[in-house]
Parts: sequence; C-alpha cells; structure tokens
Amino acid sequence: MAWTAAASLCCRLVRAAPVRRCARRRTLCSAARSTDAVDREYADLNLRPLYPNRGHHLRIRQHVNPLSALFVEPTEPPEWTEVFEDPLLPLMVDIGCGSGRFLVWLAKNSGERRNYLGLEIRQKLVERTQFWVTELGLRNVYFMFANATVSFEQIVSSYPGPLSLVSILCPDPHFKKRHHKRRVLQTPLVDSITKNLCLGGRVLVQSDVLDVATDMRERFDGYSDVFEHADRIDKDLQCDNEGWLLDNPMGIRTEREIHAELEGATIYRRMYQKTRCFLPDYSIS
Ligand SMILES: C[S@@+](CC[C@H](N)C(=O)[O-])C[C@H]1O[C@@H](n2cnc3c(N)ncnc32)[C@H](O)[C@@H]1O
Repeated sequence: MAWTAAASLCCRLVRAAPVRRCARRRTLCSAARSTDAVDREYADLNLRPLYPNRGHHLRIRQHVNPLSALFVEPTEPPEWTEVFEDPLLPLMVDIGCGSGRFLVWLAKNSGERRNYLGLEIRQKLVERTQFWVTELGLRNVYFMFANATVSFEQIVSSYPGPLSLVSILCPDPHFKKRHHKRRVLQTPLVDSITKNLCLGGRVLVQSDVLDVATDMRERFDGYSDVFEHADRIDKDLQCDNEGWLLDNPMGIRTEREIHAELEGATIYRRMYQKTRCFLPDYSIS
C-alpha cells in the first residue's frame, strides 16, 4: 500500500514535471517577448551596449517597502546648476520612474524646452540610468534615488524654474488593503504637487490596475477648485464615457505600460491641468 501510494505520487510528479517546465518556459518566453518589445520601443536610444561591464540585466529587487526605516529620511535637493544646463527651464518630474528609459527618451526626443527629473526608490536603477544619461551627454535630465512620498516637497520646492508636469505612471499597486499606505501617492504628496505646480501645469496619472487608477483619480478630483481635467481645455485629448483618457498623451509608453498592453491589459489614465491657484486651508479645527 505504502509503495503504491509512493509510486502513484512519483508518477504524478513525473507527469506533472513537464507541465511545470512548460509553465516556466511560457513565463520566460513572455518575459523575453516583453523585453524585446521594450527594446523595440526604445531602439533609437540604443542603450544596451551602453552598460557593457556590468551586464544589461542588473540584479535588482522587484519591490522595496517604502515605509522601511531605510527610506524615511528625505533626500536633499541637488545643486541644480550642476545637474541641468539651464535650471530655469520648466521641469517635468516622473515619480517612480523605474528604469528611466521613458524620461531619457523624452529628454532626447520630445523637442520641449524642458528639464526632466526622475525620482526612484531603487538605487541600482538610478545608478544605471544616470550612467546612461552621462554616456548620452544629456544635460536636461537627471535621476535621483529618493522616496518620493517623503522627499518630493523638499526637492521640488527648491527648483528655481516652474514645475510644469508631474507624472505617476503605473505605480506599484500594493494590492492588499493593509498595504495601501505603501502606495506612493499619499495625501501630503498630492498636496505638494498641487501647491508646487505652476498655473497651466499638468499632472498625468495612469495605471493598468483600475483600483489604483481610481484611487489616484479620486485624490486629484478632490481638488476640483484647482484642477480641470485636461480634455476640457485641450481638444486633442479625448476621454471614454467613464472619463479615462483614450490615448497616451506622451508619445511614448513606459516599460510597465508596454508589458501590461502586451498582456492585453487596459491602461487607465487621467490628465489634470492647474487652472486656479492653490489656497491652503488655514482654518483651525
Ligand atoms: C511598477 S514600477 C513602474 C515604473 C515606471 N513608471 C513604468 O511605468 O514603467 C513602479 C516604480 O515606482 C518605484 N517606487 C515605488 N515607491 C516609490 C517611492 N515611494 N518613491 C520613489 N519611487 C517609488 C518602484 O521602485 C518602481 O520602480
């Protein structure tokens, strides 16, 4: 009996093995397809050969916990005159910029007279992106290792030019309710973005997770006295019946966006424009 049970378990394992191998192969194939799609999207940057000694595939933690003691101290702002050729240009900040390809691409190709700043909590990603920036000789884009939730205000309020665009694109979803406090967009960050944006400045938020997109949307919809949704102002921007933007307004997709669309996911986007000044509520409760 014991043998029979063991043998049958053995047979099941033997039969199961190819299934597991197939699943693994499928995952690897789809990851490779995704990587190829990203390489194609950013082909003109030709970044692959630019990080030769350290290998293209960095060993990088998939996630970090932004509430850990390692990330509570705000990051000091840089010396702006050292990082940008013209630190008076309008600034775009990408919060949680990941690999940074999206921002490097914009800095090189968008043609806007603008500076670009990426904030990212995974240090190794920042080191690699800053290496690319130096290799490409770009003087209008800079990446910082920072917990945006705690450092945005200090960094951005010290910038000498106007803050014209803030993007939060496919932020980590932290699905479990008890982990929502790890999400990057918390009330003080919304307040700081709202306060620091120049009049006419814009905020772009997007996610392939409806719950995350809705959370970000509700936070900025809450500032209806400051923001208009950009489709009301810019006829080139159109929304579906639910109020989500139909198209990507940036001219290039982020890496997460490429991966998600390859898997058939929908990207939920909103773009807000600051049309009135932010008057903080000084009422004493
Ligand atoms: C899912 S990835 C998306 C990256 C990129 N925006 C994209 O769409 O491809 C989210 C990124 O946000 C970063 N991140 C998470 N919390 C952060 C925080 N508090 N401050 C800065 N970056 C953060 C993560 O390390 C990760 O690289």
